[in-house]
This record gives sequence, structure tokens and C-alpha cells, in this order.
Amino acid sequence: MNILLLGSGGREHALALKMSQSTQCGKLFIAPGNAGTAQCGTNVNMGVSDFEKIRTFCLENQIDLVVPGSEEALVNGIYDFFQQDAALKHIPVMGPSRFGAQLEGSKAFAKLFMQRHNIPTAGYREFNANNYDEGVAYLKQHSLPIVLKADGLAAGKGVVITPSHDEALAEFEQMIRAAKFGDASKTVVIEEFLTGIELSVFVITDGHTYKILPEAKDYKRIGEGDKGLNTGGMGAVSPVPFADAAFMSKVEEKIIRPTVAGLSKEGIVYNGFIFFGLINVEGEPFVIEYNCRMGDPETEVVMPRLKNDLLELFSAVSAGQLGAQTIHTDERAAATVMLVSKGYPEAYEKNKAITGIPAATANQVVFHAGSRQEGSQVFTNGGRVLAVTSLAESLSVALSHSVQTAEQISFEGKTYRRDIGYEFL
Ligand code: AMP
Ligand code: GLY
Repeated sequence: MNILLLGSGGREHALALKMSQSTQCGKLFIAPGNAGTAQCGTNVNMGVSDFEKIRTFCLENQIDLVVPGSEEALVNGIYDFFQQDAALKHIPVMGPSRFGAQLEGSKAFAKLFMQRHNIPTAGYREFNANNYDEGVAYLKQHSLPIVLKADGLAAGKGVVITPSHDEALAEFEQMIRAAKFGDASKTVVIEEFLTGIELSVFVITDGHTYKILPEAKDYKRIGEGDKGLNTGGMGAVSPVPFADAAFMSKVEEKIIRPTVAGLSKEGIVYNGFIFFGLINVEGEPFVIEYNCRMGDPETEVVMPRLKNDLLELFSAVSAGQLGAQTIHTDERAAATVMLVSKGYPEAYEKNKAITGIPAATANQVVFHAGSRQEGSQVFTNGGRVLAVTSLAESLSVALSHSVQTAEQISFEGKTYRRDIGYEFL
């Protein structure tokens, strides 16, 4: 089968590698891809939301499956675009319909969905210009700290946690009246602050049944000890030690099962991944957010631990036969350490030559995130540049192997955390 994978990050390199290992993999194209995905297939210079270009490409190259890596194309309706086109209709798109993608694309939609299906999440209210004054009154009596969320996608910056009422009021005004995040903050969700430790749980689903993939924990802050600015993710581990059988059975019973049953009951078309951003509050799981795709850098530890043929899972989703599949997981621990450009997540420079990337082994892969190749030389091409994933009998060994390789790789301004997984060591 010929595949078109959309995206250019470490997640896409991990998905590309996994799919390229399948016996069912024919031609694999990645748009736009990076220097790593070019080792697994053919990069195509095409934007992930350029649907007309994607249409032509799929027809000219006999594409049999489209896999969107990030939420962008899904929230923009790539699933519906294919369904509504007679020539494309037969090509499965691994993701939800535009309506289903609102689980990620609209915080208010996700909150209402959880409320309808009794899924544990922080208490909340939603406000816009029409009930602005009510929102001000609500904020003034709210317990501290206060969590404000722009309803729509805001490049990962739409969540603000404020320690005081004054700051919350100022932020509220900025979001709704000053359109701080454009249309995305026309509606604001104000929610209760939950205290606990976060983790990421993933399922693959056809909208009726689901299979749980290995869980992961990512490290979002730029600095060691979880200090400093939020990033896309500086590293990840899998498994997550506190996600034992007892905790995961609560996650399944209280969160996963009612979510998928809710999709099915409401007739929401959903084929692909659901990423549950969860928080463990004294042993009880709560949903912080839904995403309609895999996580990055979580995919860089989840895919290496997944023993199944990913294309076989995708085919089962398309055929409505996911129920017959069994997930097989590598018992070893995986850790990934992200190498980023100096200055990230703020302004950073690109085009630094990268040297010292070792060849992949059975226990280690260096995934490319923001990289590009020119001749035989690889250059930095983004904030997050490379993700070094290692597999080992224990988390501490996996981490030390990733850190050793992170030290050997060089490019000007190379920055990384040596303490990924620290709370579990
Ligand atoms: P989100 O974009 O919804 O994932 O939010 C970004 C981050 O804000 C999350 O990963 C959490 O660390 C934090 N966060 C969001 N909602 C809450 C909440 N209700 N309580 C505590 N922390 C939260
Ligand atoms: N690592 C978090 C995300 O992909 O959203």
C-alpha cells in the first residue's frame, strides 16, 4: 500500500520509520518531511493543509492511505475533504472528521462532551463577549490559581495559569476583548486548577472500539527540574511507573471507555488516535485535554515500544476490525531526549551543521525533528532538532544511553535536558 504521511517533526519520523518496517508498506511519501523521514521514504514539498495539492498528489501516486501527523490538517477538515470527493473517497484518512477533531480544536466542545459522558475533568465555565460581565464576576470569586484557556488552537500558548485575581481579570480581558489569540480566544474556558502529575495515554480507535497503546510522560519545560518556559516537549519516557495496572484500569473505565462510547453514541466519525492528556490527582485520573493525534515527543517512545505492525492496525481501523487486534508491547523502557536550538522556545537560529549522529541500532534511534539535508550534510531547521530514543531493561539505563548520545552529537547552540524521567529514578 502506498502511504502519504503529513508533517515534519520527530513524531513523523517515528511514524515513518514504524510504517516503513511493515511488510504492507509500498511507497511511503512524507510531506514536507525532514532529513530523518527522507531515510524512510520520499519527502514531498507540500504543506499539510494544502488540500488541492494533496488531492492531485494522491491521485497521481496511487495513494492508499493518508496519515496526518499533527492536528492541523484534521482540524481543517482533511477527513471530510476526502469523503466528499468521489475520486478520493476510497482513500482512508487516519483521523477524525472535522467535527470529531473539535475534541482538540475547541476546549469548550471537549468540556461539554466530557460533561455529557460523565468523564472526570476540572470544573469549568465558558465565557465570551455576550456574557463577559458574568465572567468577570465569576473570576472574582474563583479559587486560586485560576486556569484560563482560549477555546481554539493557539499554537500551544492558549492556556494561562494565573496566581491572582487581578492577573486573571487582565488575561480574560486580553483574550476576549483584545483578541489576544484572534478568533481562538473569542470564547474562554475558565477552569479549576488540578494538582497532580501528568501523563499521556493513547488509543487507536475506529470510533466504536479501541486499543490502548503504551503510555508516556513528556517533559514540557525548557529547563532541568521542570523550570522555565513551556516548550513542545523536551523529552519523554515510557512506561510511566505510576501508571500501574490499578491506575490504568481506572483510566480505561472512567475515561477511555466512556469517551469512545460517547463518540459512537453521538455518531461522531473518528478513525485514528486519541491522545488523552491526563493528570493523576491522588490516584484518580482526570482529563486535562484531548488531542486528535499522537504526541510529540511521546511518539518517539511509544512507537519503538509498539511491537505491532502499525499498517496492520490502520488497515483494521479502516475495515472496522480493530476489535480482533491485540496490542503487543516491548517490555523494555524507552526514553527520548530532545536536542533543541539555543534560545528555543523563543527566537533561535537555524542552519547549523550537525555532526556525530550515530546510525540506528536495535536499542537506539536518533529521530529527526527540525532538520534538513543538503548533499550529505544535515543542518538544523527548527527549535526542536533531534530526539535521541533508547530502549533498555530499565528507565535509568535507557536515559543514560540517550544522554551519552546527546553529548556526542554536535551543533552550535545544542541544548538539552539531562534530567528527563528524574522523578522516577
Ligand atoms: P493544555 O494545552 O490544555 O494541555 O494545557 C497546557 C498545560 O497547562 C497542561 O499540560 C497542564 O500542565 C496545564 N493545565 C491545563 N489545565 C490545567 C488544570 N485544570 N489544572 C492544572 N494544570 C492545568
Ligand atoms: N507533547 C505534547 C503534545 O504533543 O501535545
